[in-house]
Amino acid sequence: MDSTKISSPRHILVANGKGGCGKTTVATNLAAAYASTGQQVALWDYDPQASTQYWAEIRHAREETCAPIEALASFKGPRLRETLSFSRRASEGCDVIVIDAPSLSTTSAQFENLVRMSDVIVVPVMASSIDIRASKRFITDLLTHRIYRARPRPIGVVGNRIATYSANYEKLEQFLACSGIATISQFRDTPVYSEAADQGIGVIEMSDNRAARREYRAWHTLTSWIDEQTPRQSATTQAGPRAAGRKVQHRAETQDRTHKNNA
Ligand SMILES: Nc1ncnc2c1ncn2[C@@H]1O[C@H](COP(=O)(O)OP(=O)(O)OP(=O)(O)O)[C@@H](O)[C@H]1O
Ligand SMILES: [Mg+2]
Repeated sequence: MDSTKISSPRHILVANGKGGCGKTTVATNLAAAYASTGQQVALWDYDPQASTQYWAEIRHAREETCAPIEALASFKGPRLRETLSFSRRASEGCDVIVIDAPSLSTTSAQFENLVRMSDVIVVPVMASSIDIRASKRFITDLLTHRIYRARPRPIGVVGNRIATYSANYEKLEQFLACSGIATISQFRDTPVYSEAADQGIGVIEMSDNRAARREYRAWHTLTSWIDEQTPRQSATTQAGPRAAGRKVQHRAETQDRTHKNNA
């Protein structure tokens, strides 16, 4: 598959039709991984459960110690198009936009819109037979979807909550090998993920935690793969001056106020 050379920001969609497979965990940890390297990161939460928003609110309270991440409650907009233009304006100057999707049917209009706006798609998969079955269907539907086929973009699977190398996981890898999709990283099943979520941080930011450090390599592998798949245009070819050094802000409160005023 050809890599697409894009101008910033990269839009990374984290999606799977299967609930509870780790979409929010991967989205928040990816956002933290990029932010910790000094990149300007926005996190768009398209799930009405608002778990990502909750994580971002906790993080915002720790802004003295955490790199800022601009979190947007994208699911709150009355219509997707309005929400999208708001989100784009709010995320101007960002290097990376991580999109946390809800468990979506591949026949829904929202699925189409999220795929359309993505430059790369990360699919978290847990290694149970039920999860693998549902994820296979999701990936097959994605690969054959007209929006995807009109502009194929890289898809990477990440194994999540992997306890040991299991026969089930082997079956998934065989399927992915046949469909030409890469398995990029595997994340362990460890309480450090819920500990990180409770603190509004990513495991990559828990340098004093041994279990977290064991996960570092997998996150570096994933961000390196995404960077390779979505090379940025050089600064000289980008339109206009970049918002270098701009302090990104947490927008959840603003949007909350807007939402309450509209209610
Ligand atoms: N690698 C992991 N190790 C341990 N716990 C994990 C791991 N990944 C996710 N979890 C936990 O599993 C639960 C579900 O994860 P998460 O909320 O990320 O899934 P999701 O796909 O976003 O769910 P939903 O479909 O409801 O949006 C959470 O409690 C999370 O802390
Ligand atoms: Mg979620």
